[in-house]
Amino acid sequence: MEKKIGIIGSGVVAQTLGAGFLKYQYQVMLGTRDSSKLTEWQAGVGKGVQVGSFADTTAFGDIIVLAAKGTAAKSVLELAGAANLRGKTIIDAANPIADEPTDNGVLRYFTNLDRSLMEQLQAAFPDANFVKAFNSVGSAFMINPSFESKPTMFICGNNEEAKKEVTEILDLFGWETADFGNVESARAIEPLCMLWCIQGIAKNEWNHAFKLLKF
Ligand SMILES: NC(=O)c1ccc[n+]([C@@H]2O[C@H](COP(=O)([O-])OP(=O)(O)OC[C@H]3O[C@@H](n4cnc5c(N)ncnc54)[C@H](OP(=O)(O)O)[C@@H]3O)[C@@H](O)[C@H]2O)c1
Repeated sequence: MEKKIGIIGSGVVAQTLGAGFLKYQYQVMLGTRDSSKLTEWQAGVGKGVQVGSFADTTAFGDIIVLAAKGTAAKSVLELAGAANLRGKTIIDAANPIADEPTDNGVLRYFTNLDRSLMEQLQAAFPDANFVKAFNSVGSAFMINPSFESKPTMFICGNNEEAKKEVTEILDLFGWETADFGNVESARAIEPLCMLWCIQGIAKNEWNHAFKLLKF
């Protein structure tokens, strides 16, 4: 039977990844506090994708995607329920973007370089296996992007099996994976989103992705 993916979120990231997982025959549920936000999207993708509460969605998923606003990420996971997250891989696409305006075109974060959002979430939900991924590229390029060469997705997390699961998904979605270690590495991976957005905010250019070059 196909794997079940529970995506917490109703925004563009949740919708894009939801459509991507459907393309590869996963069973998909999106979680929101207000299912009417997804009525149009659900009708468009068809194929019986489900919509439910945050808790319904995390109970449904074998793998969970966290695609919620960074400032709400912890409370969203609390609503989802620690028991529904236990032992599961949580693909964490969230960025700790503060509500304050950008600083001369640079996003402001509510975290600092000694404590990332994913570390806070991993500490709050120690039985879940968080893997940072999809946070540092625009949603338009998350599924099978057509750059000249494969872009690199930087991932990190404490659980090797969970990172293997995410790497298999990234392979399907047309990404090269760079495993950059444990949860603390999110201190460096989360700010890649700041870097990614600078060109967009300054020049309205959003058509890039990162590539790691190696000998
Ligand atoms: N946009 C991109 O291209 C992009 C790319 C990479 C990473 N990201 C990151 O991915 C995450 C999702 O981004 P997005 O642009 O798709 O959507 P978003 O607008 O950042 O977040 C939408 C989701 O956050 C939830 N949310 C917002 N405030 C909440 C609150 N006070 N309490 C509970 N839930 C709340 C919403 O829940 P309801 O459905 O219940 O309203 C909704 O599901 C963000 O952390 C973002 O930084 C975005």
